[in-house]
Amino acid sequence: MKIAIINGPNLNLLGTREPGIYGRQTFEDFLKALKEKYTDVQIDYFQSNVEGELVNELQRTGFSYDGILLNAAAYTHTSIALGDAIAAIKTPVVEVHISNISAREEFRKNSYISAKCIGSISGLGLKGYELGLLYFL
Ligand code: DQA
Repeated sequence: MKIAIINGPNLNLLGTREPGIYGRQTFEDFLKALKEKYTDVQIDYFQSNVEGELVNELQRTGFSYDGILLNAAAYTHTSIALGDAIAAIKTPVVEVHISNISAREEFRKNSYISAKCIGSISGLGLKGYELGLLYFL
């Protein structure tokens, strides 16, 4: 099984970025532990702060991977291009958010990607990525 994790802008700063909201663990540490726990799964990770690079990665993985876990971060609330890319590919996408986007500012309540994804996980911290992975398993 091949799973892609795609993270959007500012998620490279997890661990130091607003720890009260996003926690103190770096994504690299979390990913290492996840890979050690699910040794049978090929988990490929991509992060970018650039919208078009996220579109490119969705297109690259979206016809050969079994599942994609996408945290589009702030582009969730702005990007028609990411929504269109999810609709255009074959691989199912689970939307993941570390924080509960429904319980924060008004602008975070709108997602341009939710309706194109197979489901969404929000507010369960980094555990949300593992729960999305378990869905694909
Ligand atoms: C986020 C929530 C977004 O609103 C925010 O812009 C992020 C992270 C989350 O994982 O909780 O950067 O996607």
